[in-house]
Amino acid sequence: MRKITVAIDGPAGAGKSSAAKMAAARLRYLYIDTGAMYRAVTWAVLTERIDIDDAAAVKRLTDALQIRLEPGPHLCRVYVGETEVTETIRTPYVSSHVSSVAALAVVREKLVQLQREMAASGGVILDGRDIGTVVLPQADLKIYLTASVASRARRRFLEMHASGSTETLEAVQRSIAARDDMDSHRELSPLRRAEDAILIDNSELNLDETADVITDLIRARER
Ligand code: DC
Repeated sequence: MRKITVAIDGPAGAGKSSAAKMAAARLRYLYIDTGAMYRAVTWAVLTERIDIDDAAAVKRLTDALQIRLEPGPHLCRVYVGETEVTETIRTPYVSSHVSSVAALAVVREKLVQLQREMAASGGVILDGRDIGTVVLPQADLKIYLTASVASRARRRFLEMHASGSTETLEAVQRSIAARDDMDSHRELSPLRRAEDAILIDNSELNLDETADVITDLIRARER
């Protein structure tokens, strides 16, 4: 059985990373969370207090950055150099700046190149916004995973609440809608469904069911 290359795109909070991680563990694929890479650059930009309008400074920083993803069974640990940023990159502070950083050409060029290198050996699932359209247009399987804004906000709210956040559901919904808007309307590689991507709306599916659908689609293409 030949292991394939899988691209999963979709808006924030559709459960892409949880479902992709689960499918990857079942099929022994490598899971690559490209959103975490944009978040890691954003964390570094904020930590170094770099002005995002200063393209040369952002490029210098991005080029020098050593981003490492260490996939585990439950958690993909993220490092920038020697610093672990797995949790810090999920804070509302980083989340509220990531769309602006992800819209910068100097950042996208570097990360897309890294992602292609990471995917080169096959047997990989990459999730993001532009995987099927830009990063891996030749992917063996493309999935566009989405859900209504209300159900995505409810899931993110419950997740954040479990880890002690006091954000309200309304605030989470507003932030998701704002991120959707920026990600789909930006000039470079906006979020959109590739023509040959299979659409999955998981508003009515739980995580296990979503991972089942993805696993079955991958198995069917492996033959
Ligand atoms: O999936 P996420 O919420 O962790 O992604 C964080 C941000 O990074 C999101 O606002 C969009 C951006 N992103 C992107 O532009 N391209 C990708 N391939 C992945 C994420």
